[in-house]
Amino acid sequence: MAKFDLVKTTQWKNLENHRAENKNAHLRDLFTEKNRFARFSIRNNDLGITFDYSKNIINDETFQLLTDFARSAKVNEYAQKMFSGEKINWTEKRAVLHIALRNRSNSPIYVDGKDVMPEINAVLDKMKVFSENLRGGKWLGATGKKITDVVNIGIGGSDLGPKMVCEALKYYGDGPAVCFVSNIDGADIYETLKKLNPETTLFIVASKTFTTLETITNALTARDWLVKKLGDKAVAKHFVALSTNAKKVKEFGIDENNMFAFWDFVGGRYSLWSAIGLPIACFVGFDKFVELLEGAHYIDQHFLNTPYEKNIPVIMALLGFWYNNFFGASSHAVLPYSQYLHRFTAYLQQGDMESNGKTINFEGDRVDYETGPVIWGEPGTNGQHSFYQLIHQGTKFIPCDFIGFVNPPERVGDHHEKLMANYFAQTEALAFGLTKEQVIENLTKAGLSQEDINALAPHKVFEGNRPTNSILIDELTPKTLGALIAVYEHKIFTQGILWRVNSFDQWGVELGKVLANVILPELQGKANNSHDNSTKNLIKIFNEKKK
Ligand code: F6P
Repeated sequence: MAKFDLVKTTQWKNLENHRAENKNAHLRDLFTEKNRFARFSIRNNDLGITFDYSKNIINDETFQLLTDFARSAKVNEYAQKMFSGEKINWTEKRAVLHIALRNRSNSPIYVDGKDVMPEINAVLDKMKVFSENLRGGKWLGATGKKITDVVNIGIGGSDLGPKMVCEALKYYGDGPAVCFVSNIDGADIYETLKKLNPETTLFIVASKTFTTLETITNALTARDWLVKKLGDKAVAKHFVALSTNAKKVKEFGIDENNMFAFWDFVGGRYSLWSAIGLPIACFVGFDKFVELLEGAHYIDQHFLNTPYEKNIPVIMALLGFWYNNFFGASSHAVLPYSQYLHRFTAYLQQGDMESNGKTINFEGDRVDYETGPVIWGEPGTNGQHSFYQLIHQGTKFIPCDFIGFVNPPERVGDHHEKLMANYFAQTEALAFGLTKEQVIENLTKAGLSQEDINALAPHKVFEGNRPTNSILIDELTPKTLGALIAVYEHKIFTQGILWRVNSFDQWGVELGKVLANVILPELQGKANNSHDNSTKNLIKIFNEKKK
């Protein structure tokens, strides 16, 4: 394929020149423009979502150049390909159809000439029946007892999505308790099992491939634990599988009737909308799971049919691209002001970094520009007392997303107003900071001596000009949560197109897995230790000190 020099395109050069011409732009000056909020914010009344991106280092021209870039990258054309079932994951020759899983319009979507919707709907029906039976006490354990605890065993996309959603919708959780085991570290399953009664526990083994070492190891340990107490026959009533690999599920000993299928056009990190969402349906009920799908579907249509200038995921992607490629920002913080969303950033880490942590472009060449940033963050206000200092006054430039809710599901005294006062205060402080003049005035008013003022002032100056997006959602419901997740999914998609990388494979995870399989027999005394000098000595110490 012919080489493509992205950084030499007119659209890239225009952004580069624009950045050079505006290198001293400061949010303090940009905000002298009247009604900047109206210019750079979007309100969606259907969902009750306000997206304010006015606290970004952009003006009308920047916005024009960024949307021009999206046009030249053909973001919408690629989105159309995804939505129509084209095999845009070309390294694995797969379609990318998480959008089909929540296609509430039910319009046909074809892969290799076959409409995928009937199969998707059949699995949704099966999930409905199962989750309702489980919640209603019709699905009983082997000894006739109601299931009180569901343990999801999975990792990566088979863990992070459903776990994040169950945490986010905890307020609505009225089904069995749901917990998640992912780590191959035995501590995870050990600490989980010790609290459980096998007679009332159901294991959901979630694995797209059903070959993942962590999941299979944890599932085998769980099965041994169950069989020891209730015998072999109990497995049928206490184990179900979520997978694309019926053969491996059967080999594991799970009845095919107890398997919920999905397909290779669903990427692991995009799979919470599929059978992988079964723990969510068990926890909050199938109807609420459908509301989650509806929220995502709404955003799918918004993403596909809205001009770039009003398209929330596209604008988020362009702003991230602006900072990543023209300001040298190497990370992006996602800061939900909601304890319910305490796993949201962890979930997004896989969604974003496994998708866009790539160096090879559409043409198969190494890129000569930055691609996906490091995604990180913790819920507010906890993060404020930990890493915000660096965002405010450190030398790193870190754009942030602030996610907050107007009406939380719970109401506890005035906690929410106090939480949100911090949410608003932080973006204001990050944007506008505190000038030397303001600091001196404050210190003078506080009665400090001139000597102390001179010594303290530089430390108390906040440069400001730290860009933020504010996503303010009227209510935390399954529907708005589904919408929020889909916004980020399409942001990631758009950035993949801007950077011209395949956002849907993950070859980089493979090498470590292969090497671990080589090393395991060496730790079990079944093979010789032959590695580089460091690895070899570390393994030697491990084997010598092992009790
Ligand atoms: O981490 C690599 C990965 O393949 C992820 O993409 C995936 O979500 C995870 O492993 C788990 O895979 P599986 O669902 O096949 O067990």
